[in-house]
Amino acid sequence: MNGNKCLSCHSRANSARTQATMISITHYMDRDGQPLAAVSPRRYFCNQCHVPQTDAVPLVGTSFEIIDKILQDDANAAQKR
Ligand code: HEC
Ligand code: HEC
Repeated sequence: MNGNKCLSCHSRANSARTQATMISITHYMDRDGQPLAAVSPRRYFCNQCHVPQTDAVPLVGTSFEIIDKILQDDANAAQKR
């Protein structure tokens, strides 16, 4: 609860010993691209971005469509008119 277990393997200090991929330099940069001495606070909560890959069926469906598809559908409908 009081420590970041991911960093116990992935930090710069520990990765050589644990053989885990070292977290990249981007994780040590602030939002202005300035390098920091330690992992940036905005990269501290690893699971915000890194999640396990699984083939599980999504619990909630989605009707989201990318804008390209919506524009294409509109164009197709306009042609038929
Ligand atoms: C016990 C050590 C250990 C811990 C704890 C650990 N990892 Fe890893 N992780 C590894 C090792 C070793 C690899 C490399 C596996 C391989 O190359 O097959 C790896 C691979 C990865 C990769 C893929 C990197 C790449 O580009 O190959 C990511 C991302 C990652 N871990 C994130 C995390 C996150 C997020 C956590 C915490 C929730 C975490 N790891 C906890 C040891 C660990
Ligand atoms: C804001 C999103 C974000 C957060 C938070 C984050 N990462 Fe990453 N991580 C990325 C992205 C994007 C990449 C691939 C591009 C890059 O290296 O910047 C990456 C790459 C990696 C890699 C692979 C590096 C390589 O060279 O292959 C590892 C390992 C990793 N992250 C571990 C972690 C760990 C451990 C934490 C928590 C301390 C963490 N990340 C937090 C987004 C994030």
